[in-house]
Amino acid sequence: MSPSRLTSSLYLLAFALLLQNVLGYDPLFRKCSSTTNSTATRSYKTSLSVLMGSINQLAPAEGFALGSLGQNNLDRPYGLFLCRGDVSSSDCRTCAVIAAREIRKSCPNSKRAIIAYDNCLLKYSDTDFFGQIDYENKFYMWNVNNVSNPVLFTEKTIELLSQLATKASYNSTKLYAAGEMDLPEGSMKLYGMTHCTRDLSSADCKKCLDGAIGELPRIAYGKEGARVIGGSCMVIYEIYPFVKA
Ligand SMILES: *[C@@H]1O[C@H](CO)[C@@H](O)[C@H](O)[C@H]1NC(C)=O
Ligand SMILES: *[C@@H]1O[C@H](CO)[C@@H](O)[C@H](O)[C@H]1NC(C)=O
Ligand SMILES: *[C@@H]1O[C@H](CO)[C@@H](O)[C@H](O)[C@H]1NC(C)=O
Repeated sequence: MSPSRLTSSLYLLAFALLLQNVLGYDPLFRKCSSTTNSTATRSYKTSLSVLMGSINQLAPAEGFALGSLGQNNLDRPYGLFLCRGDVSSSDCRTCAVIAAREIRKSCPNSKRAIIAYDNCLLKYSDTDFFGQIDYENKFYMWNVNNVSNPVLFTEKTIELLSQLATKASYNSTKLYAAGEMDLPEGSMKLYGMTHCTRDLSSADCKKCLDGAIGELPRIAYGKEGARVIGGSCMVIYEIYPFVKA
């Protein structure tokens, strides 16, 4: 290969990495605990570092990992990782690596933190939160475009997402469901996704999803698309197919 070809393919590679950074790897949100007692001790940080490493290793195969580690209860971090249900295991791995690196860089002294990307979510805490619905961490996004018939559209959105909430909660081992629905108007279609962290029971998954769906009319009334991303569950709807696999 001539030097100039090499240079241009390196350039292309760098560009591709840059693009990936811009498109996929800015966190959607992150939050570090900032209460006075939340400064992590050295042994907490050590345990956290090992925990993040093992979560990274475990996560891609199942798209989910949960773990706790430590000498004593005071210095024990609890961690949870979830990839969106439609993400391939290689993209899940990439997201896990980036999330673990970013959460520790963004929140170096925090006993509690959460970071969410398009593809994955990572969270840790010094208290055992497994199996409990997270009401504290919630993030909303919406498409700025308005639909022409918001009343009917909202009704259909809730109908589709409620069906998917039941499916994810009671008929999916991954607590995940995606689907679509025809809209009466024109040839438009509605696409939806519901997903819970797998530490939740079916009943709590349903409760978490119903809560998120119930918020949609308030935060994104008549919008062509929206997401509610929480520490325990997420719902997404759009009028274009956004599911990756
Ligand atoms: C902080 O720690 C002190 C002493 O351990 C305790 O009395 C206090 O309640 C704690 N505050 C919070 C916000 O946890
Ligand atoms: C959508 O509707 C809102 C409220 O009526 C309006 O402020 C906004 O500009 C609309 N957005 C677009 C993209 O037309
Ligand atoms: C679960 O899914 C299977 C296969 O898609 C379907 O046959 C069954 O009726 C579903 N059960 C419930 C409770 O929705």
